[in-house]
Amino acid sequence: MNRNDAPRNPATTAPATFHVKSFGCQMNIYDGERMAEMLGTQGMTPAAEGAEADLVILNTCHIREKAVDKVYSDIGRLTRDDGSRPMIAVAGCVAQAEGSEIQRRARNVDIVVGPQAYHRLPHLIDKVGRGEAAVDTDMPAASKFGALPARTKQARPTAFLTIMEGCDKFCTYCVVPYTRGAEISRSWSAIVDEAKALVDGGAREITLLGQNVNAWTGDDDKGRAQGMDGLVRELAKIPDLRRIRYTTSHPNDMSDGLIAAHGEIDKLMPFLHLPVQAGNDRILKAMNRSHSADSYLRIIERVRQARPDIAISGDFIVGFPGETDAEFEDTLRIVEQVRYAQCYSFKYSPRPGTPAADMDHQIAAEVMDERLARLQAVLNRQQAAFNAATVGRTTQILLERKGRHPGQLIGKSPWLQSVVVTAPELEIGDFVDVDIISAGPNSLAGETVRRKAA
Ligand code: SAH
Ligand code: SF4
Ligand code: F3S
Repeated sequence: MNRNDAPRNPATTAPATFHVKSFGCQMNIYDGERMAEMLGTQGMTPAAEGAEADLVILNTCHIREKAVDKVYSDIGRLTRDDGSRPMIAVAGCVAQAEGSEIQRRARNVDIVVGPQAYHRLPHLIDKVGRGEAAVDTDMPAASKFGALPARTKQARPTAFLTIMEGCDKFCTYCVVPYTRGAEISRSWSAIVDEAKALVDGGAREITLLGQNVNAWTGDDDKGRAQGMDGLVRELAKIPDLRRIRYTTSHPNDMSDGLIAAHGEIDKLMPFLHLPVQAGNDRILKAMNRSHSADSYLRIIERVRQARPDIAISGDFIVGFPGETDAEFEDTLRIVEQVRYAQCYSFKYSPRPGTPAADMDHQIAAEVMDERLARLQAVLNRQQAAFNAATVGRTTQILLERKGRHPGQLIGKSPWLQSVVVTAPELEIGDFVDVDIISAGPNSLAGETVRRKAA
């Protein structure tokens, strides 16, 4: 739509174009893609820029305070030069957590829709048109998935597929059990069908998603009880699906079968994101993590026995309430023991409604800053060492996107490292063998060995 059009009242105009902006985890990105596909089937088209669109959906994350602040500053920025604004929908975990409160804080929000209710977006858009309140944070018994259109052509060779939703773990710092609801596994057939549709649409790598993805359970097509390893085995039978990944997994749901699968299924990539959060057992208990530092280390050891070259990744929180210097040192110690390929680390952020937010001995910001810097220094060293160790190896990468310079393409190694190659003759979606010639902290440079049939 022409931005010089006369200002209009967004509440009465049916939107023709939309823009979805997703924050937070991969599950939110997946939800954002499904929203976009659904609006596409309603005849709406994507707009390149947020404020240019008739409808902007901010698909939000509630995990840390900073993530939430970002949403409100984004809402404020959606006014156009001529003073008009798009219809604004807040979706995702902030919508679930704050509901209609959002409209008190940001009056120009037209729609509030939670992560389990976004299949009803078209209905909510109509409601806005009628001048009615459009807030839907239900967690309906029937899952949204059945109401969403089937997957279509994929823009990228890598795709996300949510196989389970929610979390029953209730770590004391975390909002996810409240924003996403209880753990619910999607059915075997729904997942297999969606995977096939994604592959038919061009996907060659699928990442299975869930807040605790490895807690997935279900019956297969013969009625036998299966865990995620059985599901991965089934998906590996799809001929043109070449790579399978999963995230995020919880230590308590690392079954023997799943560990063994890492040594047995070629298509299952040698990468495991297994957050431990902290290295001290008293802190882990206060976090309600229900695993110890030792039990975590034993899992890592067994996974490495099954797949010696596996890359291990994790999440850490520094400055959980009451964490002493000595307890923080235990986090550094477990990092030294595991030797991570990459990690995410965060300062503890008190979240409204979670038990940890009310605990005594909240840690001062300067202490958290210092701990985070120390932890990240060690993690960065480990990541650089992991990357450096791949120099001189030949490995297969899947080309995912264009690089910054002409002829440059960027792909991922089996260990999820970004590899840059200059190969004008190749295309996104190609699998190619490369020699790794150099390594930086965040990416590798490779040289094409020979072109592989895709
Ligand atoms: N289900 C996953 C993680 C989902 S949230 C798991 O348990 O591993 C992603 C990460 O955000 C968490 O692993 C944790 O490290 C971090 N996180 C969650 N709540 C947080 C909080 N209140 N403050 C800081 N980091 C937090
Ligand atoms: Fe949050 Fe813990 Fe559930 Fe992960 S396992 S989503 S950190 S409550
Ligand atoms: Fe954020 Fe919700 Fe994901 S809080 S991390 S978007 S589950």
